Amino acid sequence: MSDRNADLRALVRTIPDHPKPGILFRDITTLLLDPVGFAATIDRMAEAVAGPFDLIAGIEARGFVFAAALAPRLGAGVLLIRKRNKLPGTVIGVNYALEYGEDRVEMHADACAPGARVLLVDDLIATGGTAIAGAELIRRAGGVVTQAAFAIDLPDLGGADRLRAAGVEPVTLMAFE
Ligand code: PRP
Ligand code: ADE
Repeated sequence: MSDRNADLRALVRTIPDHPKPGILFRDITTLLLDPVGFAATIDRMAEAVAGPFDLIAGIEARGFVFAAALAPRLGAGVLLIRKRNKLPGTVIGVNYALEYGEDRVEMHADACAPGARVLLVDDLIATGGTAIAGAELIRRAGGVVTQAAFAIDLPDLGGADRLRAAGVEPVTLMAFE
């Protein structure tokens, strides 16, 4: 997996001790700045998932960038999963633990038709807390989520395995041990 995408790995910058001591922050802003690298990332994510999908759900904030680029490629709409108190309509929400803190994700309660096929998308999976909360949210709204796509996996944190155990197959391009 990682060898095939060595070109993309080289575009991800690692910043030690952000946002807390001991965290190796895998920074995708350098990948986004590279037009060839970002286009290749979206191409490979689109090829790796098994559609069709009605909606691509991006998780705020970095997940939005990947979801918005993938959705037109996959012939789907964009569903925004946001952090607390950002959405104007009636929301449903799920709290979750992060590698370096706590947060809550919300979506509009009416954003997803019952039975809609939803691909969950984020830049990175670490502990899996965010993605599992996002999948739970979509399911509560009546959507069907069986796959989730990430540019980066941090396998030492076990999130991809946890997500799979929750019934969502993770698709990842690069692993950072
Ligand atoms: C990061 C990343 C994922 C999440 C992964 O987002 O973009 O959403 O952490 O961590 P997990 O697998 O342990 O849950 P962050 O909450 O830092 O928000 P941001 O995208 O707004 O920077
Ligand atoms: N989100 C959670 N853990 C992260 C990490 N190590 N680098 C970048 N984003 C993250």
